[in-house]
Amino acid sequence: MDHKLEARFLGVLMLCLTFDWTISLDNGLALTPPMGWLSWERYRCNIDCVNDPDNCISEKLYMKMADLLVSEGYKDKGYIYVNIDDCWMEKQRDSNGSLVADRQRFPHGIKWLADYVHAKGLKLGIYEDMGTYTCGGYPGSEFYLQQDAQTFALWGIDSVKLDGCYGDIGDFAYGYPAMSNFMNRTGRPMLFSCSWPAYIVFNGQIPDYKTIADYCNIWRNYRDIEDSWDSVSDIIRFYGNDTGNFSMVAGPGNFNDPDMLILGDYSLSYDQQKVQMAMWAIMASPLFISSDLGNIQPETKALLLNDNIIRINQDPLGIQGRRIMKNGDIEIWTRTLINKGMAFAFLNMNYGGGPSKVTVTISSLGLNAPFGYNIVEGFSGQSVGTFKPQDNFSATVDPSGVWLGIASVSP
Ligand SMILES: *[C@@H]1O[C@H](CO)[C@@H](O)[C@H](O)[C@H]1NC(C)=O
Ligand SMILES: *[C@@H]1O[C@H](CO)[C@@H](O)[C@H](O)[C@H]1NC(C)=O
Ligand SMILES: *[C@@H]1O[C@H](CO)[C@@H](O)[C@H](O)[C@H]1NC(C)=O
Ligand SMILES: *[C@@H]1O[C@H](CO)[C@@H](O)[C@H](O)[C@H]1NC(C)=O
Ligand SMILES: *[C@@H]1O[C@H](CO)[C@@H](O)[C@H](O)[C@H]1NC(C)=O
Repeated sequence: MDHKLEARFLGVLMLCLTFDWTISLDNGLALTPPMGWLSWERYRCNIDCVNDPDNCISEKLYMKMADLLVSEGYKDKGYIYVNIDDCWMEKQRDSNGSLVADRQRFPHGIKWLADYVHAKGLKLGIYEDMGTYTCGGYPGSEFYLQQDAQTFALWGIDSVKLDGCYGDIGDFAYGYPAMSNFMNRTGRPMLFSCSWPAYIVFNGQIPDYKTIADYCNIWRNYRDIEDSWDSVSDIIRFYGNDTGNFSMVAGPGNFNDPDMLILGDYSLSYDQQKVQMAMWAIMASPLFISSDLGNIQPETKALLLNDNIIRINQDPLGIQGRRIMKNGDIEIWTRTLINKGMAFAFLNMNYGGGPSKVTVTISSLGLNAPFGYNIVEGFSGQSVGTFKPQDNFSATVDPSGVWLGIASVSP
């Protein structure tokens, strides 16, 4: 064996040793995209419970949202995670190095809050960070991964989001798998949400999505969503580009996460709200609402609870939809569904003017069953007819709007 070959052989051996502990993530969770509520976009790091007691990061906020998930019918549709984000901690670990929830804002502690949420048939998620600090400046998990995994399991946590602020991305390929392994070893199934690829993308590189899927259930790969159509449409463009073919890694147990739903916040028109719902369904995205569930317009709430949209999102095959055509501001997206069905979206990214008419041949959507397809309009479920592969299909789409179709094979 010459010197070079030996070195390479050794390298392979070391890789095997390093990654021997987990072959692929198998915690039985996120078989379809997880659904629930997450505080970040709407409530941020508001810790001022003195002046803003109803909107500050506190046990009161998460209890209230848990109550509303149940009483307003969200839980029945599958929205079961109540997810804490940043700024829930004391600025110091305790004398044993364990994390402590802020004593003023979470007077009963996280274990108590988990019990409260569980008693309602919901699950509790929490937030930490791979680096030395969280993005909001609270104690990070670097050097404490195993202890923090144990703390979360002890508290009865069901989902952990691990951010990447104040971390060295050179460490992530070791740190995220290590945390995944430590979480596994607690014996408590906890959904693992990784911000790992997002930091790699910010660094101008293409993540190794297959490896990430071996350790994470869901992962953020782009910017945080903001309360604006610019932000929503920018995320959709990133997912349309699909750089690194990340759509192909999605499937039961593993999903790309384009970030929270902002329906119910301040910025989106009704058409734009429909776009976010339709596209998050087509993209097989986690559905984490980040708005005040106690103050949502009825038509917005109806979109969040729309059965057809949720059925597309939760399709058991878990295949992520993709942009198959882009012609100026008009995009066509398709998602393969169970029983050879398909959801398709005509998306109009034009900001101005009036509606556009989009016409396609049915076969160009990938719909080739000879007896044709029954097509319904996605939001209403209303039939628009039966179409054979050679037929043309037209729909009119508003600016920054969508026409969503669901095709099922004709009997
Ligand atoms: C830990 O990993 C093993 C092997 O992949 C899996 O069978 C088990 O269900 C996992 N346990 C938890 C708690 O995630
Ligand atoms: C630290 O650990 C010791 C021994 O397990 C325990 O008695 C003590 O209560 C712990 N301290 C804190 C602050 O949790
Ligand atoms: C998508 O790709 C286009 C063309 O390569 C590029 O100009 C654009 O910046 C990309 N957008 C995003 C959000 O990645
Ligand atoms: C990504 O997918 C496209 C077509 O779907 C293919 O041509 C390309 O080789 C793929 N790239 C990688 C890196 O797998
Ligand atoms: C579909 O539209 C194309 C282009 O307008 C047209 O040439 C074709 O005849 C149409 N097909 C059918 C089945 O109507």
